[in-house]
Parts: sequence; C-alpha cells; structure tokens
Amino acid sequence: MGEQQMGKSKVLVVGGTGYLGKRIVMASLANGHPTYVLHRREIGVDIEKVQMLLSFKDQGARLLEGSFSDHRSLVDAVSQVDVVVCTISGVHIRSHQILLQLKLVEAIKQAGNIKRFLPSEFGTDPARMGHALEPGRVTFDDKMVVRKAIEEANIPFTYVSANCFAGYFVGGLCQPGHIVPSRESVCLHGDGNVKGIYVDEDDIASYTVKMVDDPRTLNKTVYIRPPENILSQREVVEAWEDLIGKQLAKTSVSEEEFLSKLKGLEYAEQVGLGHYYHVCYEGCLTNFEIGGEGTEEATRLYPEVTYTRVKDYLKRYV
Ligand SMILES: NC(=O)c1ccc[n+]([C@@H]2O[C@H](COP(=O)([O-])OP(=O)(O)OC[C@H]3O[C@@H](n4cnc5c(N)ncnc54)[C@H](OP(=O)(O)O)[C@@H]3O)[C@@H](O)[C@H]2O)c1
Repeated sequence: MGEQQMGKSKVLVVGGTGYLGKRIVMASLANGHPTYVLHRREIGVDIEKVQMLLSFKDQGARLLEGSFSDHRSLVDAVSQVDVVVCTISGVHIRSHQILLQLKLVEAIKQAGNIKRFLPSEFGTDPARMGHALEPGRVTFDDKMVVRKAIEEANIPFTYVSANCFAGYFVGGLCQPGHIVPSRESVCLHGDGNVKGIYVDEDDIASYTVKMVDDPRTLNKTVYIRPPENILSQREVVEAWEDLIGKQLAKTSVSEEEFLSKLKGLEYAEQVGLGHYYHVCYEGCLTNFEIGGEGTEEATRLYPEVTYTRVKDYLKRYV
C-alpha cells in the first residue's frame, strides 16, 4: 500500500463498501492520499461491510461515522477532508438513492472547504440522455438533478463517465441477466455490430483517483474511453471464442422485439434493460466525439495507466 504523501488531498469516500466504492478506497490509499471512509450508522450488523471497513482501517484509512439522515454528521465528515468521492448505488428500484446526494451537496456547501466533489456517476453521461426511455431514464434524470444542485452551489466538481463496467457487460458477453460467459451460445443485439466501451472497475478507480487533484479535470466531464476497449458485441464474443477455442451458437433479438419485450417486464427490469437498449442498440456511448468544451478523456490525460484490455479481462472466466 502506498505511503501517505504530503501535498496529496485528503479524500473522503462515501459508499466505500460498494462495488465501485471499495475499489476507489483502495486506489486512493495506493496513490498516497490520506483516505477517509464514511461509516454509515445504517450499516448496523452487516458483518461483511463492517469487516471491509475494518480492513480499510488496517490499510491506513480513517473511518468517519455519519449518516445521510444527520446533516451535522455529514458537515463534520466533509470538514475534515479536501475531496469527496461519492459512489452511492445507482437507481435500480424505486428508491431514488442517487438523490440522497442532495444532502451531501448541502453539507459540502455549508462546510465550504471542499476542493472537488465527484458525485456518483460512473456510467453513461446523463447530460447526453435527455431522450432516454421511460422508466430507465430515472437514473439519468436523478443524476442531472444532483449536477444542478452542485453547480448552483458553486461546488468544484468532476463528473466521471465510466461507460460499461466490465464485470457486468464483458462477463455476460453484453447480454442482460448474464455475468458469466457461456461456452455454448450467445444472443446478439440485432446484428451485434454496435460499439460499446468496456472498462475494468479497478481501472475506473485508478483513473478516478488521478482526477481528484488534477486542474485539467476541474469542472469537467471526464469520459473513460480506452481505445482498444471500444468494441461491438460481436468483437467481445470473438475475443471469448478465441480464448476457449470454440465458436458459440448465435441467435439474435431485433430492436423491435427487444423494445416490445421490455414493456411487459417489472419496473426494475425495465430500468436495467432500458440502459442496455441505449448502449447496445442505439450506441449511445460511441455515437459522439469527445472534445467539446468541458470534456476530457481519461486515457489521454493519464497515458501512464495501463488499462486492462477486454481480451485480458475475459481470461479470468476460462
Ligand atoms: N457503468 C456501469 O456499467 C455501472 C454499473 C453499476 C453501477 N454504476 C454506477 O456506479 C455508481 C456506484 O454503483 P455501485 O454498483 O458501485 O453501488 P453499490 O455497490 O450498489 O452501492 C454502493 C453504496 O451505496 C450505499 N447505499 C446504498 N443504498 C443506500 C441508501 N439507501 N442510503 C445510503 N447509502 C446507500 C452503500 O453505502 P454504505 O457503504 O454506506 O452502506 C453502498 O455501499 C452508481 O452511480 C451507479 O449508477 C455504473
């Protein structure tokens, strides 16, 4: 683990026991940042989460107790650090967890000392999703509500658009409801030629931590777009077939079939599949160029990071 270094911002991770959050905590420690993790009282007797927090402490992190329902505790926590990274859950059920961050924004505004806030984004850029399908658009809409509050409070920010988490998308050969690749068959989205972008979650954490003290990412949206991981579903499947030395049987679902099937599903499934629709049929991650005002791309900013290629990511499943 990296030694804590002078001049490195103190980083508070909120949601540090989560799927992405734990990786951000580890990357922050490895980069020498004095690292703080919010220990929410609501964790209660969740032994796995408590053990994880204790292991962070063992590795040099400081635990700060607090709760979204206790404004004072949030102000106290953010007052002790320079940077806040939030990795609270995205919306998959009707509970709008993302909007809890409005309480964090209030606390950051009151504390007045935060040099950078990275809200829980880490997916498709919500600013590009004004046309998104109901009901899945709730994820983008809620993230935009949080952005508006951040900007109205003049809080310095970085929005990280991390594209597809590899564990969800590559593991399942881009099929919703699958996180382990089949050795027999795969169902393609249409012709399977629409390009997506896949990023190892540990790489997302490495890039994110590099952004926190970087003036080039101040008040910017930073896309993580590793050039060799811009691949169609067919290309992901081919990488897997090369690894296992076997061709998979292929079926296909047309865009019309996918959309009509979506309508009859439970709310939570409709939200998840709506996101797949935009990525896999519409190509929402790759149908624009990066380079406009207020945007940066992480692999260009940090060429020293060796990111995991999709074909290497898939080796773990062989
Ligand atoms: N691009 C992609 O493919 C992709 C995939 C998944 C997620 N994401 C995005 O990545 C971000 C992080 O997602 P994740 O999957 O890592 O999250 P997660 O593991 O589901 O949850 C992270 C943390 O959220 C906190 N949390 C959950 N419910 C809460 C509540 N009611 N009140 C307060 N805190 C609560 C918990 O914090 P405690 O530790 O305090 O309990 C939990 O550890 C989200 O913005 C999500 O939309 C992107």
